[in-house]
Amino acid sequence: MKDATPQPVYLRDYRPFGYHVDEVHLTFRLDPGATRVIARIRFSPNRDAPGPFVLDGEGLDLKWARIDGAAIYPEVTETSLTCEVPDAPFTWEAEVEIDPAANTALEGLYLSNGMFCTQCEAEGFRRITYYPDRPDVMAPFSVRIESDLPVMLSNGNPGAAGEGFAEWHDPWPKPAYLFALVAGDLVAYPDRFTTRSGRDVALNIWVRPGDEGKCAWGMEALKASMRWDEEVYGREYDLEVFNIVAVDDFNMGAMENKGLNIFNSSCVLASADTSTDADFERIEAIIAHEYFHNWTGNRITCRDWFQLCLKEGLTVFRDQQFTGDMRSHAVKRIDDAITLRARQFREDNGPLAHPVRPESFVEINNFYTATVYEKGAEVIGMLKRLVGDAAYSKALALYFDRHDGQACTIEDWLKVFEDTTGRDLSQFKHWYSQAGTPRLSVTEEWRDGVFHLHFEQHTPPTPGQPDKAPQVIPIAVGLLNPNGDEVLPTRVLEMTEAKQSFAFEGLATRPVASVLRDFSAPVILSQETDNATRALLMAHDTDPFNKWEAGRAFAKDLLCRMVTDGAPPESAYLDAVLAMLRDEGLDPAFRALALGLPSQDDLAQTLYERGHTPDPLAIHDAVETLVQAMAQHMQDTLPRILADMVQDGPFRPDAASAGKRSLGNAALALVSRLDGGKAAAAQFASADNMTQQLAALACLLTIGKGDAQARAFRDQWQHDRLVMNKWFGLQVARAAPDRAADIAEKLTRDPDFTWKNPNRFRAVFGSLSANAAGFHAPGGKGYGLLGDWLGKLDAVNPQTAARVSTAFETWRRYDADRQAQIRAVLETLAAKPDLSRDTAEMVQRMLE
Ligand code: ARG
Ligand code: ZN
Repeated sequence: MKDATPQPVYLRDYRPFGYHVDEVHLTFRLDPGATRVIARIRFSPNRDAPGPFVLDGEGLDLKWARIDGAAIYPEVTETSLTCEVPDAPFTWEAEVEIDPAANTALEGLYLSNGMFCTQCEAEGFRRITYYPDRPDVMAPFSVRIESDLPVMLSNGNPGAAGEGFAEWHDPWPKPAYLFALVAGDLVAYPDRFTTRSGRDVALNIWVRPGDEGKCAWGMEALKASMRWDEEVYGREYDLEVFNIVAVDDFNMGAMENKGLNIFNSSCVLASADTSTDADFERIEAIIAHEYFHNWTGNRITCRDWFQLCLKEGLTVFRDQQFTGDMRSHAVKRIDDAITLRARQFREDNGPLAHPVRPESFVEINNFYTATVYEKGAEVIGMLKRLVGDAAYSKALALYFDRHDGQACTIEDWLKVFEDTTGRDLSQFKHWYSQAGTPRLSVTEEWRDGVFHLHFEQHTPPTPGQPDKAPQVIPIAVGLLNPNGDEVLPTRVLEMTEAKQSFAFEGLATRPVASVLRDFSAPVILSQETDNATRALLMAHDTDPFNKWEAGRAFAKDLLCRMVTDGAPPESAYLDAVLAMLRDEGLDPAFRALALGLPSQDDLAQTLYERGHTPDPLAIHDAVETLVQAMAQHMQDTLPRILADMVQDGPFRPDAASAGKRSLGNAALALVSRLDGGKAAAAQFASADNMTQQLAALACLLTIGKGDAQARAFRDQWQHDRLVMNKWFGLQVARAAPDRAADIAEKLTRDPDFTWKNPNRFRAVFGSLSANAAGFHAPGGKGYGLLGDWLGKLDAVNPQTAARVSTAFETWRRYDADRQAQIRAVLETLAAKPDLSRDTAEMVQRMLE
């Protein structure tokens, strides 16, 4: 039976909880099908904000409850518990039974390969025991675990342990979403770290026996993160131990539970044989992200889930800074812009658009989005750019000082900047409340020896927000003279009006403007320009982001014209890219990025905005034509690049080595268009690392030739579940448009398609939706296949089903046939009687 339509929760309805929690004691008697959880909790009335005593609880079988030792009989519903309580501090005790083995949703306490583990953010703790499961209730926790498993972990510092039990104490008050428990047959990869004040910390990465050889990289990343947070933010670690656990069945990437981070095994386990350079970089970044949460998230947490960006936007921003420091700021900024455009702009320009700080939700798990995370990070980057580095550091120091131990809001965050700088940030706050990607247009004027930039901004309507106010936009600008010499180094213009002009005096000749350097704001820029100017910026811009962006914008316009007017690939573009490819003064990683093209999804959105109905096949064909033309145009240079990028000696995952492989593999992809896959087949056969092996396989599959290698790959990697995810994913991602849905379907019938594992499900269906032309191929087979599988997955794992349903979020761009097909799929899902609240909310928002 479907519940009554779940009601949204509103930010404006926030009320503090009527009680404080002074301490929490939990005892777990672990049993796969019948775990007992005994809670003893000290509550005291909140005199500042009296309110009813209502605890959250879902799927719990209450055995008994007592207050101050006397039995009570609370009123229990599907989602809550209430009872009479004294008007004075009291001790609550209760025992519940739960069934981890039956928990396929992977929220609360569940089993993964026989290992007990938890995921409590956002609202999973209520599936463990009755509790005020909200982030503004913070308390110290003591935990006793009883089982015959060899390893039993929880938050904080270890306490007594013996035959069949282990105790843990976390002295730092925390909200329940940061609670964690792990128990199983695990082995540790240990290390130590000395904090700058001399505290000795025991570090461990806990894995299944056999995975010990994949921990070294994660451990190095952890130590680097700990050091970096001390050096850059002055933040030191605050417990005796820091544990990381790798878990195969996990809905998201990782979780920052206090002192006991739990990771999707794909986000922590690494080895040269089994992990690509992209995996190494991602693992380093996610380890850092979760570690950085210890201060931005745990010591200072969120008052309520509407403030999620307070911890996520800031922590993403911090992990981006870290990766830039460890590797290359230029390359990282370009990578981040690519991700933002692919995921956040897509979200922000469709039916799922929402502000960085949403004002209502039905299911909070649906708001762990690119907007909250990545746009949330961009907003912090803009703030830093506006106030300057020194003021940013001062503001952060004040933030940690003022709010340590508190559950805070975006208002608290902005106030710290206002108090530090004396600025009024009320207009800036629109970045948190207004959804949608601002459109920024610029025109240039040269009059009486003065150069003018005239800007206009406009943010299109989004669901529930028809009208938008002008935003504060930091626009980093530099000027070049027509020879390509910089005549004005980067200066940040502060745009606050709908229309605003800036004048530049003292120039001898009309300059060339480099606008929105370093991608200084998450906006869509339109600028009248010509091929010669673009080529000049590609060759001479001192700002690496805009040097890359000039080529990217050039490719985008060219591809749009190829689709709409059948224009041929232009040699001006090919020449300019070739010049970058040959420029040995440029970092190989940067040159690899310069060879990349805008995504087909991005092209579809751009065409749609320019008044066309995008045809995914026509877009695919245009990209194929351009890639072929690039290969031909560069054919004399490519073999030399391939040769130059070869590296001797054992695999090293550092940024410089990875950059060389990245350029070599970009060249290989082009060479494969010319040699029928000969070089790629040779690389596949000789590769001694996953980056080279997988890239070669991708080249072959892309030209329709990799079947034998795909079989060999499977034979080689059958035993490795993480590598097998790549095998599943790549075949769909690289399938020709007319074959993608068939290949995906065939893979769902593979005995190794363990679809209840989120990584495996996403490998097939995330790749299907990422293959734009394949997903949208005529006939709608891809839509129907995904719809059926979402329905099936929703019954066991609503959170992952809801997330993958975003494959449909762009549906209104397309023609009437495709829209009708997708609408039918969404309506079929919506009509399912037992559809989860998670997926129901997503489908409803997409249909509205
Ligand atoms: N806080 C985690 C992170 O970003 C993400 C956990 C999200 N979990 C969820 N069920 N929505 O590091
Ligand atoms: Zn996070």
